[in-house]
Amino acid sequence: MSELQPTKTILRLHLPTDPRWVNVAEKNIEDILVDHAYCEQKAATSAISLIVKYPDKTRLVEEMTDLVAEEWSHFERVLEQLKKRGYGLGRNRPDEYVVELAKHIRKGNKRERQLMDHLLVNALIEARSCERFKLLWKNIADEELQKFYYELMVSEAGHYVSFVKLAKEYMPAEEVDARLNELLEIEANIIKNLEPRPDRMH
Ligand SMILES: [Fe+2]
Ligand SMILES: [Fe+2]
Repeated sequence: MSELQPTKTILRLHLPTDPRWVNVAEKNIEDILVDHAYCEQKAATSAISLIVKYPDKTRLVEEMTDLVAEEWSHFERVLEQLKKRGYGLGRNRPDEYVVELAKHIRKGNKRERQLMDHLLVNALIEARSCERFKLLWKNIADEELQKFYYELMVSEAGHYVSFVKLAKEYMPAEEVDARLNELLEIEANIIKNLEPRPDRMH
């Protein structure tokens, strides 16, 4: 398997995940898979919300339509992994990380600015998920899950890039880069202040 290092080359996350997370995550793989399934469901739901909120943005509608299909197929793949191991879907849990990050989507009457913030927050969720998938790929013993997380890591890295590019369709590139830098800092602080949880993907 080729060594793809998306977290170093493109993701630009300011703070790496506490390396202890993956050890506890592996011991709680049922919880991790359940939480992961809901992350994929939320990614699909969020893409649908963007379509409903910005039907006039043709490029966004097209890209989000493709994304819904892709995230839904990820959801199905996680369900399959749960089933293979004799686990059910389990209950949805609050995602404190996403809730904190979403507080930084600025409201008000500047529609394009709000869209940019929304796309960049989604980009960061993709980036952090990708980083966690990489840790799982590299560290867990289950070979099937290694391959699974490798494939999803590559996919979510692509989504991160697409969200940032899409933001630049609707706002000047310099403004997007500046806001991305601010949000990267905010995201790192959120991660710093959140206790790494053994039963959560974030
Ligand atoms: Fe996904
Ligand atoms: Fe994604």
